[in-house]
Amino acid sequence: MKKQRINVTRSSMPPLEEYIEEIRPLWENRWLSNHGEKCKALEEQLQEFLAVDHVATFANGHLALETALQALAFPPGSEVITTPYTHVSTTHAIVRSGLVPVFTDIEPVHYTLDPDRIEEAITDKTKAILATHVYGFHCDVERIARIAEKHGLTVIYDAAHCFGVTCKGTGIANFGDIVMFSTHATKVFHTIEGGLLTWKDADDERFEQVRRIQNFGHVAEDDVHYIGTNAKMTEFSAAMGICNLRHLEENISRRKAADTRYCERLSGIPGIHIPRPDADTKWNYIYFPVIFDGFRLNRDEVKDRLAEHGIYARKYFYPLTNEENVYKAQYGRADIPVARHISRNVLTLPMFSDLPPNMVDEICDVILN
Ligand SMILES: Cc1ncc(COP(=O)(O)O)c(C=O)c1O
Repeated sequence: MKKQRINVTRSSMPPLEEYIEEIRPLWENRWLSNHGEKCKALEEQLQEFLAVDHVATFANGHLALETALQALAFPPGSEVITTPYTHVSTTHAIVRSGLVPVFTDIEPVHYTLDPDRIEEAITDKTKAILATHVYGFHCDVERIARIAEKHGLTVIYDAAHCFGVTCKGTGIANFGDIVMFSTHATKVFHTIEGGLLTWKDADDERFEQVRRIQNFGHVAEDDVHYIGTNAKMTEFSAAMGICNLRHLEENISRRKAADTRYCERLSGIPGIHIPRPDADTKWNYIYFPVIFDGFRLNRDEVKDRLAEHGIYARKYFYPLTNEENVYKAQYGRADIPVARHISRNVLTLPMFSDLPPNMVDEICDVILN
């Protein structure tokens, strides 16, 4: 019998009947997109869950970030201090918005933007800091806020990995001026494809612009004020989100059980380092990253050996975004030794809500034996 393939992630699904009930009204009202009742209901539920005043739903996280940057309307060529240790989406959003990414190194504990390196990167063209909360480990949000305030910079967080995370008891959406979440199918909370934006100052008229930009720039039926895009979430996606939100805590606790089993098997093994969140973080167990540094196999060898057994771990994040082919000629020489080291040694092992402990054992057996 063919062995079941184990991928790095696997989408969690609500019970089919529950989803069918949620989408049933769409057969009556025939309103499938354009900010219909499901999107509105999901936004309301998310305001409560994320403890913020306003949430806008999007077709995906990437377009949410691009739309936010367009609404901020920084002069073309403005600089944005950012991390190379992220999904290429973060860098693309900056560049596609006509802005210049200034790659700054990460710190070695949670692999997020190193506050010690931010100030030296600020010039008179710097307008914003765009940092990623990597693997659900939050950035040093307090120090970044102080630096931004001192220099009059906007703080944008890529919280694609961070749904459900709190920092010192406060929801992660409450740190920074603008926060983007991805609700892609592989995330802890998903809407099939999707993304969210939260905006600290909901009275900021630029938040209103975001809604217009995501709908082709319309301010009224016969009035287009902005060079907009189409970044609206569909009603089917929103319905999936409504269902998934009900099962979120249960899914996170199942991920936690898999995480515990991994730690039992892999902690204390020479050459294997498992990064952990701060004690004051309520984590979402989105990934299980491991650093192979001094282990008898290097990262690539571990990945290949797992693949021989039908287990597909991923090198999140390798290459660094500034070293991707499209960017390396211009940005490949950035001074980012910590990011380089982590990127060359990290492997994210399979992690999803229906990963049973015996499958974790199977994965660990391949690594250790
Ligand atoms: C850190 C980070 N930023 C942005 C994105 C893009 O999100 P989306 O796939 O929803 O466009 C991802 C996607 O996985 C991501 O991991």
